[in-house]
Amino acid sequence: MSTHIGAQPGDIAPVVLMPGDPLRARWIAETFLDDARCYTEVRGMYGFTGTWRGQRVSVQGSGMGQPSLAIYVNELFTEYDVQSVVRVGSCGALTERLAIRDVVIASGACTDSSMNRIAFEGLDYAPVADFGLLRDAAAAADLRDDLEGRVHVGLLFSSDSFYAARPELTARMVDYGVLAVEMEAAALYTLAAKHGRRALAICTVSDHIVTGEETTSQEREQTFAPMVEIALEASLR
Ligand code: HPA
Repeated sequence: MSTHIGAQPGDIAPVVLMPGDPLRARWIAETFLDDARCYTEVRGMYGFTGTWRGQRVSVQGSGMGQPSLAIYVNELFTEYDVQSVVRVGSCGALTERLAIRDVVIASGACTDSSMNRIAFEGLDYAPVADFGLLRDAAAAADLRDDLEGRVHVGLLFSSDSFYAARPELTARMVDYGVLAVEMEAAALYTLAAKHGRRALAICTVSDHIVTGEETTSQEREQTFAPMVEIALEASLR
């Protein structure tokens, strides 16, 4: 096993779906995968491997925030030879162009995290999605009548703070095309680039920072399903 994942080499599939919430990982495994088996329970951060349309796939919780996600993604890439990670998460809408329950497929991610500032000694690095995954996810989303007009491809803001200390700075990002805020995508994209692997983040709008609307937990479950299907179709085609 690796430091934080209690799996043997070979237990984890080359393609991993990654929700922040480990209980969501279990829900995805139970709802979408055949023959799912739990390979890790370390710190309650569950991981499962099963099959979808006959292909092996894993689902691994990341926890909240870039430091937590980076622990799991580093170990998946360096110790389990994982080739693709697709984050399936939630985000807060920053602009009225987005409505609650809309889906954002992140072409790139800005961040206030110091992780890249330290790694690049103050230079700006632009964390971007794998183009093939991005294209295939957008194409899969396009085919869905239930998501008509509700899918956006664009920038996320991966913040280290759920409770923003300086909301006016987040608003400034919107002037530069940022659609929504979450807490993980920038680290995922940066690590995938570093290790030569593929990554994508797809997020459903769970709350609206401008209008104050929120989804109920039942609504979150219902809107999570199409996003997971898009992630599976894009990563296992
Ligand atoms: N902020 C940060 N992360 C989030 C939010 C938010 O409002 N909603 C869902 N993930």
